[in-house]
Amino acid sequence: MSPFTVAIDGPAAAGKGTISKAVAAHFDLAHLDTGLLYRAVGARMLQGQDPISAAHTLVAGDLENPDLRTADVAQAASKVAVIPEVRAALLDFQRAFARRSGGAVMDGRDIGTVICPRAEVKLFVTASAEVRAQRRLTELAERGFDTDFDTVLADVQARDDRDMNRADAPLRPADDAVMIDTSKLDVDAAIAAAIAAVEARR
Ligand code: C5P
Repeated sequence: MSPFTVAIDGPAAAGKGTISKAVAAHFDLAHLDTGLLYRAVGARMLQGQDPISAAHTLVAGDLENPDLRTADVAQAASKVAVIPEVRAALLDFQRAFARRSGGAVMDGRDIGTVICPRAEVKLFVTASAEVRAQRRLTELAERGFDTDFDTVLADVQARDDRDMNRADAPLRPADDAVMIDTSKLDVDAAIAAAIAAVEARR
């Protein structure tokens, strides 16, 4: 089977992760959350390591670190993600994953624009900043983190700003991406929209 790649991009907390896992399970494709690569580099930077050498020496075990999901690591990830040498160091691994014979779902910020510009399917999953902040707040509360809406909204907006305005691989929809706005969709409806978009191009 020739590689079949589904590229899923969008801002933080729009629902990319949930949708990507569901699409991968539905079509029996491998899944890579590329944000974990940047989070792993960000986590190493917080420990004092140079981010460029961290990106060159990442190992699979780095992606298993349970601390990658914290707000501090998310901010650190978006800071190392502006460094072109960091992005370049992570490119080959991502492209190799995309070419897996069984096909792959990859989610991130630049999959449809830079990593896999010829992906068979490109989705851009978005939602208003307020909706995304509220979802992130609920998720953090469930995991026992004590924070408030304004703090989470400021974090989401700071990350959006860095991701959309960087010079190298900024967050934006590919010209041929299918847009899915999850602001008014529940999880099941968002997953159904994504599956329908993939089905239409298979
Ligand atoms: O998706 P996630 O929130 O885990 O991503 C963390 C950060 O990593 C993002 O805010 C972004 O700066 C960076 N990232 C990126 N390109 C990707 C995936 C993530 O720049 N393909």
